[in-house]
Amino acid sequence: MTIDLTTQFTGLDFVNPFILASAPPTESKRKILKAFEAGWGGVVTKTIGLHPVENVAGPKTIYQRTSETKPYVSREKRPDTVSHSSWNWELISDQPLEQWLPDLKEIKETYPDRMVIASIMAGAGSEEEMQNWQTLAKACVGVGCDALELNLSCPHMDRKDMGAHIANDEEIIQSVLKAVKAAVDVPIWVKLTPSSSSLIDGAGAAYAAGASSISLCNTFPSLPLMDPETMKFEVEVDGLVTSGGQGGLAILHQALDRVSSLSRAYPDKSISGIGGIKGFREAFNFIVHGAGNLQICTAAMEEKGSGGVGVKLIKELTDDLADYLERKGYSSIEEFRGVARERIVEHSQIRRKSEDYNGGYAQSA
Ligand SMILES: Cc1cc2nc3c(=O)[nH]c(=O)nc-3n(C[C@H](O)[C@H](O)[C@H](O)COP(=O)(O)O)c2cc1C
Repeated sequence: MTIDLTTQFTGLDFVNPFILASAPPTESKRKILKAFEAGWGGVVTKTIGLHPVENVAGPKTIYQRTSETKPYVSREKRPDTVSHSSWNWELISDQPLEQWLPDLKEIKETYPDRMVIASIMAGAGSEEEMQNWQTLAKACVGVGCDALELNLSCPHMDRKDMGAHIANDEEIIQSVLKAVKAAVDVPIWVKLTPSSSSLIDGAGAAYAAGASSISLCNTFPSLPLMDPETMKFEVEVDGLVTSGGQGGLAILHQALDRVSSLSRAYPDKSISGIGGIKGFREAFNFIVHGAGNLQICTAAMEEKGSGGVGVKLIKELTDDLADYLERKGYSSIEEFRGVARERIVEHSQIRRKSEDYNGGYAQSA
């Protein structure tokens, strides 16, 4: 029996719920076509902008590994290591919009049943920047993109009106959504940063302004490690480094915590879960906390021989999900989506060894 993995999410039909996140696996037509050939249900393109991009004069991404015998984390090549995380300080796509447009059109025409979500980013605080959002949105939808993901979460921006810098500002979030919604009529996903101090309020503002879904999480702000012998950071340029983003397995639990908080605050709203997915078990955990769609980056990039698009990974994910649905007698992920929600409670609701628990306060007389 063939198990049907079709998943409806934000009004779109996905052949399976696994999509490649906005990052190097989705940075070019060649990679996206390869990803679709391998079986991915959709892609969020590498973020497209209108401003010039110049990356650092050194490696943009490193892969950090650990091992049981020598369990320190390092990019250093050692035998018997397993993946710990990625660390990157890459900016958005350096491919101009004019080059993206014919590529997106061809991708969509070649794979009409796969979902292409264009990730876009512009600034804030001026009429001109609102028009930039609209220009990007109209252009991408005009060539057939099925949805947009607004990047309000890039952690590597010096400009204070872009990326993660604006994720705390509900007014800006709403003004960007208003501008984009006035320009196009497709589902709009909003990608937020886990480092925002008011993540749930920001997400609430986005939903209220018409976001179809929140994509959580972008990478976690972090620093690369310094080698005690060489006194060099594991990635640096001229001895200098700046805060970058961590992805991969190391962020799984924190990403789940963010998704769970959001899903409990807005149980009826959609969430695309991202952060540390390497296989079915991690994907399952995002689903039970409420995610209806799963995005993957680091695990696909790390897969050797796949051109960085996770050829084996998507086969494993779909095979393992099909096997799970069949064994459990579920017809789709909707049957177990969100089941963990009601089991995440206040500390005071967890049973104590005795009845004496008073929330940690001294007993009043
Ligand atoms: C090298 C690299 C580049 C990335 N570029 C973007 C980007 O352009 N836009 C974006 O929204 N997220 C970007 N991300 C974040 C990923 O889409 C994803 O949110 C993050 O890596 C967490 O997922 P993971 O644990 O599966 O890697 C990038 C991540 C990496 C590792």
